[in-house]
Amino acid sequence: MTSKHIKILLLGNSAVGKTSLLMRYTKNEFQNNYISTSGYDCISKKLKIKNMNIVLQITDISGQERFKSISQQFYNKVDGFIFVFDVTNNESFQEINNWLTDAQDKNSNFDYVIVGNKIDLKDSIIIKREDVTNSNIFGNAKYFETSAKNNINVKEAFEELTKMILKRLKREGSIADDEFNTVDTFSLSHSNHNSINEKKGSCF
Ligand code: GTP
Repeated sequence: MTSKHIKILLLGNSAVGKTSLLMRYTKNEFQNNYISTSGYDCISKKLKIKNMNIVLQITDISGQERFKSISQQFYNKVDGFIFVFDVTNNESFQEINNWLTDAQDKNSNFDYVIVGNKIDLKDSIIIKREDVTNSNIFGNAKYFETSAKNNINVKEAFEELTKMILKRLKREGSIADDEFNTVDTFSLSHSNHNSINEKKGSCF
């Protein structure tokens, strides 16, 4: 059985919930207390489609890291980005444009989705769906309103991005046709041992 490694990078301001989304998706865990990521962490998750194993290598970079400038080499290896903001924090939304521009400057071939996290904080939401979808910046980007806390739309965001990447790799010829023949309708299934903790930074 063939295996395909796919690298996904979570980017966004500090405290928007990047680590929480990663932990919810890979371990189905959530912590209320905030411990800022130092540098970056990587967790792998295995998925299966038809007769192919997919290893998602998801890296979560501290929101502080942009100021230390993430290296071109690092960005170049990324297949897909998840740009995360907090729907209760306007600054984190405005900053998405900078995170996106940074990525576009350093990597010309990637897919991405936009995630507005903390949708459970209903009374404090200031960035509405239409603020994102009407924005010129994001064009036709797919947008997910998520809650890492209440497990809303988390799997959907990660797996939609994975499908977008796989479709592109197929178009580019990096995945053979016979590895999955119904790419438009494929479904991803989680394998039994689906989460492997890796040493910091070992994904890149
Ligand atoms: P940095 O590592 O500093 O870049 O932060 P981060 O983006 O990884 O944020 P983190 O996941 O550490 O979450 C920051 C805080 O927000 C923590 O207190 C989380 O418990 C909280 N949080 C994360 N996701 C949610 C959510 O969906 N809803 C609510 N209510 N709180 C959340």
